[in-house]
Amino acid sequence: MISGITRVLGVIGDPIAHTSSPAMHNAALEALGLDYVYAAFHVEPAALPQALAGMRALEIAGLNITVPHKQAVMAYLDEISVEAAAIGAVNTIAFRDGRLLGYNTDAFGIIESLRADGGLERFPAKVALLGAGGASRAILYALLARKEVEEILLLNRTVANAEALAGDLDGQGRVQVGALTEYHDMADVGLLINSTAIGMHPNEGESPLADPSCLHEQMLVADIVYNPLETVLMRQASAVGAKAINGLGMLAWQGARSFEIWTGVKPPVAAMVAAALARFARGG
Ligand code: ATR
Repeated sequence: MISGITRVLGVIGDPIAHTSSPAMHNAALEALGLDYVYAAFHVEPAALPQALAGMRALEIAGLNITVPHKQAVMAYLDEISVEAAAIGAVNTIAFRDGRLLGYNTDAFGIIESLRADGGLERFPAKVALLGAGGASRAILYALLARKEVEEILLLNRTVANAEALAGDLDGQGRVQVGALTEYHDMADVGLLINSTAIGMHPNEGESPLADPSCLHEQMLVADIVYNPLETVLMRQASAVGAKAINGLGMLAWQGARSFEIWTGVKPPVAAMVAAALARFARGG
């Protein structure tokens, strides 16, 4: 029941109508009986400064930030975590003691999903990452933070974008850059992550790999796409006996970390995943 002391959480983005974050977070808040409510706000780029001034004025306890505001929002915050500063994007803001604090929980989301959903106990020495956009930045940061990962093959349609990303984040020469369209020998790659939107509805017939013969049984394949729940890439992986996971876990785990930052409580992630799935079933 919303009362006079209920605290407000939310997500801002443009577009925002299809977000599953309210379903996930409200399910977790309800399960734990916490007196918060989580809403979605449509904020156009020109209105971003006013939205953040409004967050302060209304004492909104926390916001998730999604496309296209993850970089722009950084200019309006009082503090930015080391991780968010290195990634160059903020997806979570907490309002604490009159200050807006920025975090990035996407890196945590991928690592936790690989562990919890992919069953990855130890990171392989060699990883392939497809894509060099915003999602890839957080994933590359997370991979570079793992000492076990010695080499990362960063493949992108526009090789110059991959070179720029590697130049930004990799100080030790652990990233090899290449073209997505070429064949790459991945015999010793133990983990392949797709960070592009290729294969996402309405282009569910596409795979980011021009030549899927690089996939093999000893590989864990993680797709950040979760609509559809099984992508062409995941089917290509399953066909050679590789384990494949979709992006739903990453979405839920990044949300879980935001939730914990705001409330100080670890949420029931299974309930968050179930709420997101129920939302997709209703027509996403
Ligand atoms: P996000 O923030 O979701 O990562 P983005 O920053 O627009 O989105 O990045 C999209 C990524 O998907 C990029 O790596 C992009 O490749 P380019 O750098 O060559 O643009 C890749 N991508 C998007 N559509 C693609 C397509 N049809 N074919 C190949 N790569 C594509």
